[in-house]
Amino acid sequence: MVFEGMISNNKAMQDIFELIRKVSRTDCTVLIEGESGTGKELVAQAIHQCSRRMQKAFYAINCSAIPESLLESELFGHVRGAFTGAFTNRNGIFNDADEGTIFLDEIGDIPPSLQVKMLRVLQEGEFKIVGSNTIVKVNIRFISATNKNLKQSIQEKSFREDLYYRLNVINIYLPPLREKMDDLPLLVNHFLKKFTAKLEKRITKISPEAMEKLSRYSWPGNIRELENMVESAVVMTSTNILELADFPMITEKVANNPRKTRSSDIPFYAAREIFEKRYIQDLLHRCNWNLSAASRMGEISRKSLTIKAKQYGLMS
Ligand SMILES: Nc1ncnc2c1ncn2[C@@H]1O[C@H](COP(=O)(O)OP(=O)(O)O)[C@@H](O)[C@H]1O
Ligand SMILES: [Mg+2]
Repeated sequence: MVFEGMISNNKAMQDIFELIRKVSRTDCTVLIEGESGTGKELVAQAIHQCSRRMQKAFYAINCSAIPESLLESELFGHVRGAFTGAFTNRNGIFNDADEGTIFLDEIGDIPPSLQVKMLRVLQEGEFKIVGSNTIVKVNIRFISATNKNLKQSIQEKSFREDLYYRLNVINIYLPPLREKMDDLPLLVNHFLKKFTAKLEKRITKISPEAMEKLSRYSWPGNIRELENMVESAVVMTSTNILELADFPMITEKVANNPRKTRSSDIPFYAAREIFEKRYIQDLLHRCNWNLSAASRMGEISRKSLTIKAKQYGLMS
C-alpha cells in the first residue's frame, strides 16, 4: 500500500503508518530512529502533511551539515552586530516556522551549548535571538531524527538526558531494508516506474536473476541505496528488461558474500520465476525447441509453455 509517498506491505511498516496517523492528530514531539536511507525524512513529512499544520511551513534542518558556529544563528536568528559578519538583523528558522513543523535531522550532532537552548524551546516554547535579550515565543511542532544510538551518547555525556526525554515522547523506529525484504520487489517496481517515466525509457520489468541478486544483498544504504541503484540500472540498460549486468555494483558485492543456502531467503515470486525459467529452458533444450514435444514431456499446455517461454525471453 501507499501512504503519503511511502510504499510498503510489510507488517511493521503498516503499524508505523497507523502510528503516524495517530501522532499527526497531536502536537507531540516525535523522535524517529533508523539507519540512513530508511525513510526518516519521509515519515517526518507524512506527520506534517497529516496534521492540522499541513498548510503551514515544514522546515528540515540537518544539524550535522551546518557548522556549529552558524547553527545557533540559523535556528534562532541574530541581531545586527551580534558577531563579526552580522551586518543586519536576520530571522532564524524558528521564527519563520512559527505555527509549522520543524524537522531536526541528525539531532545527535547538535553541540552541547545548543542542547540547553533547544530544551528551553521544547519546554517553554521560547528562545532568545543571538545577540539580544528579547524573548521570542513560538508555537512549533518538533520532529527529530537520528541514526545514532542516543542512549549511548547520553552515557558518553555528549547528549543531554533531559533533552532526549523531551524529544522522545513518541518514538518511531524504522527497520533497515534487510529486515523487510518482503518489500523489495514492490520497491524495485515502484522505482522502476518512477525512473522509466523520468528518463523516458520503456523498461517493463526486472529479470528474475537480477531480482534474486538484489534480494541477496544487505543494503547498508537502505531504500536510498536501492533507489539510486535502480536509477542507474535504468540509465545503463539497453534492453527493455533490467538484467543482472545492469547492477554491476551489486554483482561484485554479492559475489564476495557467502551464498545464502536457504531457499526462502529469496522472495517467493522471484524464486518461482527463477525456477520456472530454468525448468522451461531445460525442457525446451531437451526437446530441441519442439513445442509440441516439450508440452507433452512437461505435461504443460502448449499455450502456457509458449507464454512462459516468451515471458522469460527464451523465445521471441
Ligand atoms: N517506504 C518508502 N517508499 C518509497 N520510497 C521511500 C520509502 N522510504 C524511503 N524512501 C525513499 O528513500 C530515500 C531516502 O529516504 P529518507 O527519508 O531521506 O531517508 P533517511 O532520512 O532515513 O535517510 C528517499 O528518496 C525516499 O523518498
Ligand atoms: Mg535523512
